[in-house]
Parts: sequence; C-alpha cells; structure tokens
Amino acid sequence: MDTLTLTRPDDWHLHLRDGPALAAVLPHTARQFARAIVMPNLRPPVTTTAKARDYRDRILAAVPAGAKFEPLMTLYLTDNTPADEILRARDSGFVHGVKLYPAGATTNSDSGVTDVGRCTGAFEAMQRVGMPLLVHGEVTHGQVDVFDRERVFLDEVMRPLRRDFPALKMVFEHITTKEAAEYVRDADGPIGATITAHHLLFNRNALFMTADGRAGMRPHYYCLPVLKREEHRQALLTAATSGNPRFFLGTDSAPHSRGDKENACGCAGCYTAAFALELYAEAFDAAGALHRLEGFASIHGPDFYGLPRNAGKLTLTRSACQVPAELPFGEHSIVPLRAGESLAWSLTA
Ligand code: DOR
Ligand code: ZN
Repeated sequence: MDTLTLTRPDDWHLHLRDGPALAAVLPHTARQFARAIVMPNLRPPVTTTAKARDYRDRILAAVPAGAKFEPLMTLYLTDNTPADEILRARDSGFVHGVKLYPAGATTNSDSGVTDVGRCTGAFEAMQRVGMPLLVHGEVTHGQVDVFDRERVFLDEVMRPLRRDFPALKMVFEHITTKEAAEYVRDADGPIGATITAHHLLFNRNALFMTADGRAGMRPHYYCLPVLKREEHRQALLTAATSGNPRFFLGTDSAPHSRGDKENACGCAGCYTAAFALELYAEAFDAAGALHRLEGFASIHGPDFYGLPRNAGKLTLTRSACQVPAELPFGEHSIVPLRAGESLAWSLTA
C-alpha cells in the first residue's frame, strides 16, 4: 500500500500553550487535524469554564486564515473543583473533559489533585452528566521508581476509582505500559486510552543513544510518562493496531523551547504535532497494520466522545519527508521529534 486516504483525523490529547507559542504551533495541528482535545495545564491552569471560554477564543483567533479547526476544551481538576463547575462545563457545550493531574506529576501540575478522595463531589457530577475524566496516570511519591509510576497508579488509584465510579467515563491518557494496555482492553465499563506516536516508535533506549547505537543523553526524547522497555512498546503497538475502539490517537505533542529541553533540568515533552500522521503511519506500517490507522486516528475517538466523525479526508503517500532541524517558536525555536531525519510517509492532501 503506497497511498492511504483516511477520514480526517482528530488529536485526542494536545498541548497548545498560549500567546506566541500557541500562534507558532497551532498551524501544525490545524494542517492535519480537524479537532483536538486541548490540555489545560497553562500557567495559571484552566480551572473554570469561564477560563476555558477565554482560552478557546484565543485559540480560535490563532487559527490560520483558510484553515478549519475546532478546539475541544478541558478543565484542570483541583482538590477544590466544585460540582457546580462540572455542570457549567457541561452546559457550555465546548468543554469535553476534565483533566486529572496528580499534583507534581508533570509540567504545570503543581495545582493538581493531591488525593482523589478530595474530588468525590466533582466525580459524582461528572458521572451523572457524562463528562469524561481524562487521567494522567502516574503516582508521584518519591519512593516509586519513575519507570513504575504508571503501573503503581493503575493499582493504587485507577482500579479503586473505577470501582467507586463504575459509570464515570474515563480516558487513560498516553498509556505507556503493557499493564495499562491490557487493563483498558479487559476492563468493564466506559474506558478508553490515548497512545502517542513516540511511545509507539521508541523504547527507553532512545533516551540514551541514537538509533545506530551512539551513546549520549537525548533530551528531545524525554517526556512523561517516560518511554518504557521494548516489551511495553510492543504491547502498545498491539493495542493501537488491534482495531479495538477503546484505543485512539492522542499525540501529547508538548512544545518546549530548545533551551528548556537542552538544559541541566530539561522539561518533559516531545514535539510531534508538525509530523504527527507521518509518524503514526510509520509505526502502523512497521507493524503491517496500515489498514487499522483510520479507525485509530479518525473513528474510535469521536465515537468514544459521542461526537460526529469528520467529513473531510486526508491522504498520505509513501514518499520521503524531511523533518527540519528546528521550527520557529515565538522568539525561540523547538526541536521536533526526529529533527533532521527523513520520514517514510508524507501528507499530500
Ligand atoms: O511530557 C509531557 N509534557 N507530559 C505531560 O504530561 C505534560 C507535557 C507538557 O505539558 O509539557
Ligand atoms: Zn499531555
């Protein structure tokens, strides 16, 4: 198969930032995706429907002329989010999920949830009105190894939470482990999971060496949850290419300036928005499953969220496409994933 035409896809997990950064990255997403679930971890975070409305207006103002893009907004859950805020979010029509960041888990998560027991009122309201809970599934206790944080979260937080709120619609975001993939596959009730292109393409060796084995720290491969062992990457590929509608595309594209990444305390995040479909196509192709890409990228997500599938189409061809060494990012630059490399698939329409 050398040409692949898909229903226009959506990105079910995206960081767009704000201000000049937003203006720099949004055209990359709008080129490929009709809609995206927009993460609320701004500084300060998007904790209310009123803030989400303002942020949505800023995003719409940054959409390039001639492009069509719909931001699907989310609220940032805190220990104090009242049930009323969930109702306002639902009534707005533009808020499509509430994001749970365990406090301290990742970029701008310090106002996140310190204990899910404090969010019972919000969870009850979400369960009642059908508002999805989008979960960054990692524990943050210092004694838990960074590579085990998702697995421990699954047992300590996810399973009990879903026992207590069995009808609460949940997305286990950017899953990175075999355990999470199998849990989502086998669980009862309304649960889905997003999978990033970088977790499908790379295992944790990528943090410490080039593809041809040259050693060295590679900060542009550092994200959270961190890349895992090859057996986990294989399990994610199996899930993504299985045709199971619980698994769908979420890039978790997370722009940080070159200086914030190439730093003694570098930020977490891989920038994949500019070549997202090309990267996913490479992963699905390598698994011999290009025929499953459309379901994963364009069908399972809208069906899970109860939104219409997109009407437009997008075409990929098997022809080399060059990723630039860097991209403009306001006064700075971003180094995209696979910078300077050639990808096997190109977007043609
Ligand atoms: O790598 C990540 N970057 N993981 C996250 O959870 C947040 C994101 C960001 O906002 O930079
Ligand atoms: Zn994210």
